[in-house]
Amino acid sequence: MSSSPIQKVALAGASGLLGTPMLHALLDAGFTVTVLTRHSSTATFPSSVAKVVHVNYEKLEDLTQALQGQDALVSTLTTFSISTQELLIDAAIAAGVKRFLPSEFGSDVSIPALRAMPMYKDKIEIDEYLRSRCAEQGVHMTWTAVYCSCFLDWGIDNKFYLNLQEKKCTLYDGGDFPTATSPTDWVGEAVVGVLRHADETANREVRVSGIDISQREILSIAQEVTGGAEGWTVTEASAQSTYDKSMEVFEKNPSNVWGWVMGMLVQGIFGKGFTRDFGGKTDNELLGLRRVKKEQVREYLERAVRTGKASKTF
Ligand SMILES: NC(=O)c1ccc[n+]([C@@H]2O[C@H](COP(=O)([O-])OP(=O)(O)OC[C@H]3O[C@@H](n4cnc5c(N)ncnc54)[C@H](OP(=O)(O)O)[C@@H]3O)[C@@H](O)[C@H]2O)c1
Repeated sequence: MSSSPIQKVALAGASGLLGTPMLHALLDAGFTVTVLTRHSSTATFPSSVAKVVHVNYEKLEDLTQALQGQDALVSTLTTFSISTQELLIDAAIAAGVKRFLPSEFGSDVSIPALRAMPMYKDKIEIDEYLRSRCAEQGVHMTWTAVYCSCFLDWGIDNKFYLNLQEKKCTLYDGGDFPTATSPTDWVGEAVVGVLRHADETANREVRVSGIDISQREILSIAQEVTGGAEGWTVTEASAQSTYDKSMEVFEKNPSNVWGWVMGMLVQGIFGKGFTRDFGGKTDNELLGLRRVKKEQVREYLERAVRTGKASKTF
C-alpha cells in the first residue's frame, strides 16, 4: 500500500451523528469523497463532495458499481443496520477497495467480556466476517477497526455521563478514574490519521482517546457551567450491578433496547477491566492527533446548556 496513498474515500452513512463530522473531516483533509446514501434518504451533502451515489444496501451490484475506483471505504452506518455491512464488504472487495473501516467507533470490543455482551453481537459478526474475508487468498483489501470509547457529545446529549437538564449524576465505581472519551468531530480527525497512516494501521484495531477524564471531573465542569454544585443530586452505583440490571431487562424483553443498552454501555466504558482509558495505551501519537483539552470539554457542556445539544453543527 505504501506505493499509492489513499486519496479517494467512500463514506457510507455520511448524514448521521458520526457521519456528518466525519464527512467534514475527510473533506477538510483534502480527500476526494464519494458519499453512499440510501435511495430513501432525504439527506443533502456539501457541494465539495465529489459524488453522491444513491444505493440499495441489499444489492451487491449496486454497491460494487458505487465503489469502483475508491481507495478506502469508511462506514458510519447506523447501529441499527450493522449487518448491512456484510454486503458492503463483499462489494468493496469486488470493486478493488484497498481499506475498509467498519462502523465500530465505540468500546474496545477486543476485550472478551465485552465481546460477549449481547449489544455487540452484530458488530462482532461483522468484525469476524471482515477479518476472514480480508485474509482470503487473492483478496487485497485490508481493514482497520477504530475504538474511541464513548463520544463526548453523544454522552452528554444522551445523559450517559450526567443529566444536565435535571442536574443529576450517577458516578460509577466512585467516578474518580480516567476514562477515554472522544467528541465526534475529533473521531473524524482520527479516521483521517488512519487513512494517512495506512501501512501502520493495516489489519488491526486502532485505539484513540480524545481525552482521558474522570466522570467526577466532567461533573465538576458541568456544575461550573450550570452555576455551581447547588441543586445537583449526585449518587453512586457500581458498573457491575448496573450491568446486571440491564441484563435482567434484556433477558425479559430484548426489544426494549433503551431499557438495557445504557447499562451495558456503562459496564463497557466504566467497568473495571473494560475500556476505561485503554490502559493508557492509544494510537493517538501514531495518528498525529492533538488531545482534547479540559477547556474544550467545557465548550461541549456549555453548548449543551445553551442550545440543548453538545454536538457541533456543520
Ligand atoms: N461511541 C459512542 O458513544 C457511539 C455513540 C453512537 C453511535 N456510535 C457508533 O457510531 C456508528 C455510527 O452511528 P451513528 O449514530 O452516527 O449512526 P446514525 O446517525 O444512526 O445513522 C448513520 C447513517 O446510517 C444511514 N442509515 C440509517 N438507517 C439505515 C438503514 N436502515 N440502513 C442503512 N443505512 C441506514 C443513514 O444515512 P443515509 O440517510 O445517508 O443513508 C444515517 O444517516 C455506529 O457504529 C454506532 O454504533 C458510537
